[in-house]
Amino acid sequence: EGVEVVEKYRPKFHFTPEENWMNDPNGLVYSKGFYHLFYQYYPDGIVWGPMHWGHAKSKNLLNWEHMPIALYPDKLGYIFSGSAVIDKNNSAGFGKDAMIAIFTYHDPVKEKEGRIDYQTQGIAFSLDDGLTWKKYDQNPVINNPGIRDFRDPKVFWNEDKLVWQLVLVAKDHVQIYDSKNLKQWTKISEFRFQDKPALGVWECPDLFKLKVNGTNKEKWVLIISHGGESAPNGGSGTRYFVGDYDGTTFTTDQKESQWIDYGTDNYAGVTYNNIPGNKRIFIGWMSNWNYANETPTKKWRSAMTIPRELKLIKKNENFLVKSEIIENFQTLSTEVLKEEVLGDFPYNFQYQNLQQSKISFDAIVENKLEIVLSNTKKEKYIISYNKVTGVFAIDRSKSGKVDFNKNYKNAAIQEMTIGNVDKLSLDIVLDASSIEIFINQGEYVMTTQIFPTKDFTNFKINHSSISSIQNAKIKSIKLN
Ligand code: FRU
Repeated sequence: EGVEVVEKYRPKFHFTPEENWMNDPNGLVYSKGFYHLFYQYYPDGIVWGPMHWGHAKSKNLLNWEHMPIALYPDKLGYIFSGSAVIDKNNSAGFGKDAMIAIFTYHDPVKEKEGRIDYQTQGIAFSLDDGLTWKKYDQNPVINNPGIRDFRDPKVFWNEDKLVWQLVLVAKDHVQIYDSKNLKQWTKISEFRFQDKPALGVWECPDLFKLKVNGTNKEKWVLIISHGGESAPNGGSGTRYFVGDYDGTTFTTDQKESQWIDYGTDNYAGVTYNNIPGNKRIFIGWMSNWNYANETPTKKWRSAMTIPRELKLIKKNENFLVKSEIIENFQTLSTEVLKEEVLGDFPYNFQYQNLQQSKISFDAIVENKLEIVLSNTKKEKYIISYNKVTGVFAIDRSKSGKVDFNKNYKNAAIQEMTIGNVDKLSLDIVLDASSIEIFINQGEYVMTTQIFPTKDFTNFKINHSSISSIQNAKIKSIKLN
């Protein structure tokens, strides 16, 4: 197979490692003009293996520069997921403005011995903006309390309490810790939620506050990913709670799970630390543990989502975390292919660049909307909305390669209930092997991977029951 074929599924404006396996985003931190992205990385193969932290950096969250591997496994274990901060006041004593990573050590030897205390938390620091790293010589900084699945620390500076804080997961709950120096940590509380039935193992927590849009009120958001068969459309998925946090304990009135993304392919996402102006930028891993190790690529495996800015709104007495496509994406991306309005919009057309594009429009829906993306081999991806049932759905059953894994094949039709909407605003972002759908500027999101054997070049709206299409725009996306 030529390069063309091998690289066919590599996204052009989503982050991918140059080669080999990647999973969770780690150590998301902004520093001196750069967004750093570290990630769970196995440099010796395209399936999950002994974990390292890969590294890339970017000025705009879209064009990424690959950097050398940041953290390698050592005698305490593999380097699992975690976060990073900038130590402005040298509280840890590693140096002013040191970049400090807080991660999980996963000890495969202890695990093999059948022990349950094989995950601990360690730290490492860099004095050259993430280029080279030293592990702290007295790791681990948090010992295992006798809990299997004790991991994924997210550290943040609590500006109200003036202390470092950390959230991590302990099997089926979240624990919160305090520290003055990032080295000594004291547990201050736990957060549990009565799920019936229980969801899969808790992973990759994040805790931060957001302003309720249009008010001066602030609420706290707790994000948690869940392994196993937890997510609304199968496999692993990420949910959130909106509540209050007094600097010690997180509480919520929320009765039911709300999901960051209803598609199968957005997992283990967390947000950036240290962005000026308190922007909350989220990046997720665009895959699902149900089939991540078997997706049909050869040189590298998996991509990150488009970075999304999280916003909090109140809707019908409920809080909703919106995922908006980052602003940069709207301005940076180029070449508007079509920009037409109202009835002039062609409901069925061909574009060579559809496989790297953003399709946006508002549909005034009478009762049903159906959108079909397809190629000359009749492979297709169907998007639909039924106003009567309030269900929005995608169907990737005939979208190309689906037989590489039975879980992938089974997650062909994916649904989410968005209720009865008169005007549906859609942004559909295609990039080689992914489709991200943002409804009403990210009130609901559905992210899925696809593997068509030829590029999609046809776009069609079955308009029998919509009264109009407004603000339609198709952009071919090419990064400068
Ligand atoms: C989530 C996760 C984390 C863990 C990492 C290991 O996808 O399972 O909980 O730290 O991946 O690679």
